[in-house]
Amino acid sequence: MTTITSDKPITHDLYHPDVYFNRELSWLSFNERVLEEALDDTVPLLERLKFLAIVSHHALAQVHAHKATGEVNGFLVEGPLAGGHNAPARGKEINEKGEPVYGERDKPDLAKIRDLGRPFWLAGGHASPEELHEARGVGAAGIQVGSAFALCDESALKDEIKQGLRRKSFDSVLQVTASSVASPSGFPFQVAQLEGTLSDRPVYEKRKRDCRLGYLVEAYKTKRGRIGFRCPSEPVLSYLKKGGDVGDAEGRVCICTGLAAAVRDGQSNETSDEACIVTLGQEQSYIHELMPSADGSYSAEDVVSYLFSLCPPPVAH
Ligand SMILES: Cc1cc2nc3c(=O)[nH]c(=O)nc-3n(C[C@H](O)[C@H](O)[C@H](O)COP(=O)(O)O)c2cc1C
Repeated sequence: MTTITSDKPITHDLYHPDVYFNRELSWLSFNERVLEEALDDTVPLLERLKFLAIVSHHALAQVHAHKATGEVNGFLVEGPLAGGHNAPARGKEINEKGEPVYGERDKPDLAKIRDLGRPFWLAGGHASPEELHEARGVGAAGIQVGSAFALCDESALKDEIKQGLRRKSFDSVLQVTASSVASPSGFPFQVAQLEGTLSDRPVYEKRKRDCRLGYLVEAYKTKRGRIGFRCPSEPVLSYLKKGGDVGDAEGRVCICTGLAAAVRDGQSNETSDEACIVTLGQEQSYIHELMPSADGSYSAEDVVSYLFSLCPPPVAH
């Protein structure tokens, strides 16, 4: 097994290159370790992991089912209310809040997905016992729930952020906006509108652009024909130097740093002084079923009991 060791002097300057691993070398070293394991006959074979494709439309599910070279074991059918990233709308229309406008053509035909003969789960605004019942009625195996768990006691969201979101949600004043520009990926991204976070224009304007984590970088060909990496939310000048388009940088948020900063004990050194961004789904009616008051709280177990209060979970064999 290969280990990465360093005999470089210890420095406390976080901007000094010696305190970081070279990403490419670290990646190669990881691959080397994986290959070493594969060559070892005493390492038992792993059964292939199940692969669930996230889709927003039956046409995409059909392509996966019929054209994929590997096996697709099921589908997560994620609608435009779901937290995190969403599929783009088919039309190009954007509303006054900067959100993509979804129409009839974006709605999946669940019967067509059911006919593919694989299990599927509905995601995005389905966090209620009635929705679970309905989902099972159209042939789904169940629902996928994100936001209700993101706000529960066990979630690692920083307490002040969680409480702020719970309170606003309980008072029915929490707005979640599907931003067409926030994510460097270019996909619509749900941003919870919370004071003091990057959803606040002054907080966004004040933040010095910087790319410290780089999880959403894109590869590009450098002038010397090498592979370089750039991110539309990195400093604009450096993005332009790398051949990026200024229009792609406008309004982008460094969401990998911002999301990590919203989590307690997150990526401490890189994000401890960073502004946060929070994602959540647009539908939060579960909050009134789970919390008695705006300052109340609830556990992950409360969410599970609530969701299964109409139809019990399937019995495991
Ligand atoms: C905080 C948060 C982070 C999420 N991150 C991801 C993610 O990284 N990848 C993903 O496929 N879906 C992600 N989702 C979407 C959920 O997996 C799920 O499909 C969705 O939240 C379900 O809708 P709901 O939030 O209305 O329950 C995230 C959702 C939330 C609330």
